[in-house]
Amino acid sequence: MHRCPPGNQAALGEGNVRTIKAILCASAIILATGVAAQPVAHDDSAAVEIVPAQPDWAKSDPEMDRYLDDLMSRMTLTEKIGQMTVLTSDWDSTGPSIRPNYVEDIRAGRIGAIFNAYTADYTRELQKLAVENTRLKIPLLFGYDVIHGHRTIFPISLGEAASWDIDAIRKAARISATEAAAEGIHWTFSPMVDIGRDARWGRVSEGAGEDTFLGNAIARARVEGYQGEDLRAVDTVLATAKHFAAYGAAQAGRDYHTVDMSDRTLRDVYLPPFRAAVDSGVASFMTAFNEVDGVPATGSQYLLSDILRGEWGFDGFVVTDYTSINEMVPHGYARDLQQAAEQAVNAGVDLDMQGAAFMEHLQQAVDDGHVDEATIDRAVRRVLEAKYRLGLFDDPYRYSDSAREKATVYRDDFLEAARDMARRSMVLLKNEGDVLPLVGNGRSIAVVGPLADSKADMIGSWAAAGDRETRPVTVLEGLKARLGNSATISYARGADYDFNAAGSTDGFDEALAVARDADVIVAVMGERWDMTGEAASRTSLDLPGNQQALLERLVATGKPVVLVMMSGRPNSIEWADANVSAILHAWYPGTMGGHAVADVLLGDYNPSGRLPMTFPRNVGQVPIHYDMKNTGRPIELGEPGTKYVSRYLDTPNSPLYPFGYGLSYTEFAYSAVALSAEQIGPNDTLTASATITNTGRRAGETVAQLYVRDLVGSTTRPVQELRGFEKFALEPGESRTVSFTLTPADLAFTRADGSFGWEPGAFRLWIAPSSGANASVPVEFNVSRP
Ligand code: BGC
Repeated sequence: MHRCPPGNQAALGEGNVRTIKAILCASAIILATGVAAQPVAHDDSAAVEIVPAQPDWAKSDPEMDRYLDDLMSRMTLTEKIGQMTVLTSDWDSTGPSIRPNYVEDIRAGRIGAIFNAYTADYTRELQKLAVENTRLKIPLLFGYDVIHGHRTIFPISLGEAASWDIDAIRKAARISATEAAAEGIHWTFSPMVDIGRDARWGRVSEGAGEDTFLGNAIARARVEGYQGEDLRAVDTVLATAKHFAAYGAAQAGRDYHTVDMSDRTLRDVYLPPFRAAVDSGVASFMTAFNEVDGVPATGSQYLLSDILRGEWGFDGFVVTDYTSINEMVPHGYARDLQQAAEQAVNAGVDLDMQGAAFMEHLQQAVDDGHVDEATIDRAVRRVLEAKYRLGLFDDPYRYSDSAREKATVYRDDFLEAARDMARRSMVLLKNEGDVLPLVGNGRSIAVVGPLADSKADMIGSWAAAGDRETRPVTVLEGLKARLGNSATISYARGADYDFNAAGSTDGFDEALAVARDADVIVAVMGERWDMTGEAASRTSLDLPGNQQALLERLVATGKPVVLVMMSGRPNSIEWADANVSAILHAWYPGTMGGHAVADVLLGDYNPSGRLPMTFPRNVGQVPIHYDMKNTGRPIELGEPGTKYVSRYLDTPNSPLYPFGYGLSYTEFAYSAVALSAEQIGPNDTLTASATITNTGRRAGETVAQLYVRDLVGSTTRPVQELRGFEKFALEPGESRTVSFTLTPADLAFTRADGSFGWEPGAFRLWIAPSSGANASVPVEFNVSRP
């Protein structure tokens, strides 16, 4: 292998959000279609270096520097360590309350930030304690898990991702920030950008699904939405990219469990959304609970210093997850909390969440010479900079304004946006005989199931300050509000989702009685809201409790059954797919969810959601994702029934519903793909186009998805990778040509030698309505050597 000669380098181009600087140089080998794999001198090919743009709010500020230099010159070490500690209030928590007396800690200047405290009044009261009692009057920073809404709750994050509607997702984050900021919050612990490929893991509900490309776009949109354009505006909050890193790859889908993966998979699949967040100017990062390759993420020099700060140039602050410094002791990485505190701060942690490890041990660490005071200074500086940029040194109470709070929370336009986001997020999985949209007038509808009229479930987990008791609109309420007296609606809960209910038939008779009298049955089933989210892993993806048994009895009535699923993960609903008439996946749709479900069921909105995660046939296929590798014995090589290929004896390899899948009340035809060239050079741009026509009778939206396969690489490549998508509406009979542009940089991956870049050779490309449908015949193109 030879090095790139200096004269052979060229800049690829500049994007408006980030600058892409591709260093290109000559390669020894060209890969052409059909040519067998040959070793590629990959460090001679095109390395891609992405330089993050600096957001406006992070630009250097000499006045801030002077102010903070002066402030820090007056701080004692104890006061500095105080700024490196964030504690929960007693309003909420997801772990042990290590220091219950946080009010005393604020007064004494032992903490710099509080989380789980909100409302203008309460944050003002706590802020007053800091500003009026501590020697230097440094204001507190208030953080909170504003994940999918603050008071007005949007669909769970995975549901929002199913909209594939980046503008709507950005808008939801903007509204969430506006509401939270009006209740005293400065900082949200969102977006959660963990790639989720294991439906057993309860926290897939909090992320954007299994795909890196879609995940990147959503990470960017959320950061932009929360932080807005100007962090000094009182309706913006600091965003946090979490959980750094690879938390979604917990072994066996069990929460907090070990993560062990190759560096290549880490970099190509799990890290990119974090990188996208940095490129969008995210203000903070949160470490993960898990270990990666034997090192807890909270103590990982590799993740926090080498990659995050070194390679990516991140200069915001890093907070731990809840007591994750302390957890390095049971991990077996630190002998005691003293050592854990030292490991965390030396790895690059700035703020200790809830562990009191810094508070109690950093002074000693500095005295012992295990931690440099310069390390402490850097961490404190980052926290103080965030406070300064939010304007808290000018006015510590600027976010705690009860008049603004009153005028902001639950604004009508916010509720309307939540309803709109909810219907955009729903995915129509089956619609046999066009049973949907329902004809309401004059008909009788039986609404059954444990989620049909359950307010608590509508908003899902991590619903911040969302009201679970009175505000959420249930499916039953939504249908009644929409249909009024024009239809007869009867209701019976019928079944229970509690695990203990399995085997019981309590409630079945009532449900079957209303079902038999109806023209159509709407069964609202799924998981209780707290069966997904943190610490909510499952080993079965089936409908919990006795719901499946009731569903079978409902189908046996011979009436059409519409299953509305509510859950935060892909469930195994193969039986339902084969037996009910229609399935609508509604996730946990939020405060206005019931109205949104009615909008879709009655056809006021034509469903347009697409799955952001593959739905397996059963749990044994997990982890299953659309961009798997081909293996040396792909199933297509064998005759049906051949034994020695990569397959199961008892279940097909294919999923129940593939990534990107979702139906509409209309139909779309995708044309063949046209390419601008069959061969492109290192500096060229390829355009791929297809014409999509609405061939049905209703207006509707489709999501055109561009997939690429790199046929041969210096390391094996996935069978398909999403590299573009566009969602748009078409009137009946209307056509539109979508065009995607690709440069070689879009084909980059971590090559055999660990460098990131593309390789010359043959690629296959297609444009389709889902990863499971080769709607347009794949076309091939070549990228030539530089
Ligand atoms: C979760 C984080 C969350 C934190 C603070 C932890 O248990 O893992 O996602 O931000 O609690 O509430």
